[in-house]
Amino acid sequence: MASFIVSIAALKRNTTILRETAEAAGCRIVLALKGFSCWKSFPYFRDDLSGCCASGLWEAFLARDYFGKQVLTYSPGYIESEIRELCEFTHHLDFNSLSQWYQFREIVMNHPRFLSGEMHCGLRVNPECSTGDTPLYDPCVPGSRLGITADQLVGADLNGLSGLHFHTLCEQNSDDLEKTLAAIDEKFGHLLRSEQFTYLNMGGGHWITKPFYDRERLIRLVRETKARYDLEIWLEPGEAVAIHTGVLRATVLDLFDSAGYRLAILDISATAHMPDVLEMPYHPDAYLVDAGKVSVGPAVTLAGESYHLSTEDPASPHRYRIGGPTCLAGDVTGDFAFHRELKVGDVIVFDDMAHYTMVKTTTFNGVPHPDIVLQHEDGRLETVREFTYADFRDRLG
Ligand SMILES: Cc1ncc(COP(=O)(O)O)c(C=O)c1O
Repeated sequence: MASFIVSIAALKRNTTILRETAEAAGCRIVLALKGFSCWKSFPYFRDDLSGCCASGLWEAFLARDYFGKQVLTYSPGYIESEIRELCEFTHHLDFNSLSQWYQFREIVMNHPRFLSGEMHCGLRVNPECSTGDTPLYDPCVPGSRLGITADQLVGADLNGLSGLHFHTLCEQNSDDLEKTLAAIDEKFGHLLRSEQFTYLNMGGGHWITKPFYDRERLIRLVRETKARYDLEIWLEPGEAVAIHTGVLRATVLDLFDSAGYRLAILDISATAHMPDVLEMPYHPDAYLVDAGKVSVGPAVTLAGESYHLSTEDPASPHRYRIGGPTCLAGDVTGDFAFHRELKVGDVIVFDDMAHYTMVKTTTFNGVPHPDIVLQHEDGRLETVREFTYADFRDRLG
């Protein structure tokens, strides 16, 4: 059976770095549930983080029920019933536009948790400072619906708001944060300097746990920003928590030739189980499991198994176009070359499939959903969820 396997040791490696960074910088770091919500793993690293950020009511419930600590909620569009429920437990409630804030501020500002200071409200701003390479992930593109621009704030009634929130980065280093903070200061510095504003949420996209990430610069930037405006700083990474912590393990179901291509059909699908491979798009590392051979270092070392990393070598005699068992002609994970010929029953492990993958899966074509497995620090594998026909059926009616 296909499975997502998440390594507790790898998660703890990442969250230890995040805790140490937060301590050195004097800020708070929370997990963005949109990137990683494998809640059965939360008890193993929750002590390292300050809580979670939620993209709406259901993620906020998950944060409250399975993580605890602080819940920061931001959504581009709330409905009244969600606002009423969120007021009962969220700590930050951030709005995407002035019109949403004006629509709900009466409910929020009259709530006992707002009046007692347990819940604070903020506004997502758009500094119009693009630093990334992928327009699909750029909230600063002209016409962006994410966050409000400085010109829209002129003359606005901001009474009741105490926070600003920006999220403009994606898989980026702290030099891009530095550029963004300069734009934030130019456009919104007058608000942040006023006594009314007590927190600044710098969103996600900080690749803090990557070896090359310049953490010293992040620490300096956070300290300088705190000193400049005298407020609390929050960071809400998703990817930095779960990067290099999980794999998707699949089995070769069929092999055949077509028009000069050698094709391999697996029991996992790009469109249903790893959609960012098609959306981003990107080419994941794949490992062919071969017991007894020299092992290479994937993110998760599965007990007793060794791996051979695939290549993209176009001249390799063992080159395959790998795809899934769905009707989508483009359900192709990519072209991979292996150290030997594949055979039906071979196991292939795709690297780095925990973040933004497990949260996006579907059962398109009724393809069985991979099991969810935790790998404990002693190497033991624990299957925490198996999916059945009933799971597929019940989501559809
Ligand atoms: C508002 C907000 N916060 C945090 C994140 C997490 O970003 P990342 O997983 O890249 O760190 C995202 C991702 O899209 C986001 O939209």
